[in-house]
Amino acid sequence: MEVDRKKFIDSLGGPEGVSRMDSEARADALESHMMAELNKPKFVPATVGLADPGKYPTTAEVEAQIETRKYRDGVGFMYVPRNGENVRRLAPMPANATLYDFFKLRFMDTANHVLQSAALAKKNGMSEEIILACLLHDVVQEIIRTDHGWWGAQLFEPYVSEKVSFAIRYHQTLRYYPDPSVGYEYPDLYRQLFGSDYVPPPYIEATYNMVRKHPWYMDARLVTVNDLYAFDPNAAVSIDPFVDIIGRHFKQPKEGLGNDGSPVAHMWRTIARPDQPL
Ligand SMILES: [Fe+2]
Ligand SMILES: [Fe+2]
Repeated sequence: MEVDRKKFIDSLGGPEGVSRMDSEARADALESHMMAELNKPKFVPATVGLADPGKYPTTAEVEAQIETRKYRDGVGFMYVPRNGENVRRLAPMPANATLYDFFKLRFMDTANHVLQSAALAKKNGMSEEIILACLLHDVVQEIIRTDHGWWGAQLFEPYVSEKVSFAIRYHQTLRYYPDPSVGYEYPDLYRQLFGSDYVPPPYIEATYNMVRKHPWYMDARLVTVNDLYAFDPNAAVSIDPFVDIIGRHFKQPKEGLGNDGSPVAHMWRTIARPDQPL
């Protein structure tokens, strides 16, 4: 198997990350990298297994799929690979891990989408806060998908402005509600995921009614606008164009994420060490 040298070194945090590893750790990382490349998770549409895969399922059909799975769909991508394969050993994290390190070493299944979203926001001339919110909006789905807007906002709250965490928290709710004023429409993906006749639960509707009147409504809304078309499986993405924005708007703790004693440090440790039994 051919190894993309640059991609591999990048996945270890660049030449600096590699220089911090001993030769055994490098060999282990190479093995994990090759396994991961071989076993890239494939997206399995919710319509698989239905009589007519071309049509969107109903909510009843989506419900009937639950017992066909070995996992609950709310569990994070890094915990249960959706391709049915075994999990792979992860490269070690540096001692004082930064957001950049987490992007390179842990956000395997979400980085591509959020980088596409942030790139779109940048191209569309969004503010740096919106670009950052786009960059961070879904990465918590590595550990948990259910209510990921709330979980994601909490994960980042100590390190970003209130407006950025607001936009992350409420993008989840706004995804269900079109806003023609900015060209945001209900996603076809949701017809597939939730069923064609799905109605969001009352807490989502109540949240929408609150956010709709909030002065920061548009900040959360713009995340959804730059979220909608950020699922190109062939897009070439990189964290590098966003390093300066992260530097200006993300308060990186000097002890490293997970070691800073913040109220969410345990969430970062959970992402860093998902194989820890307790
Ligand atoms: Fe999301
Ligand atoms: Fe998203």
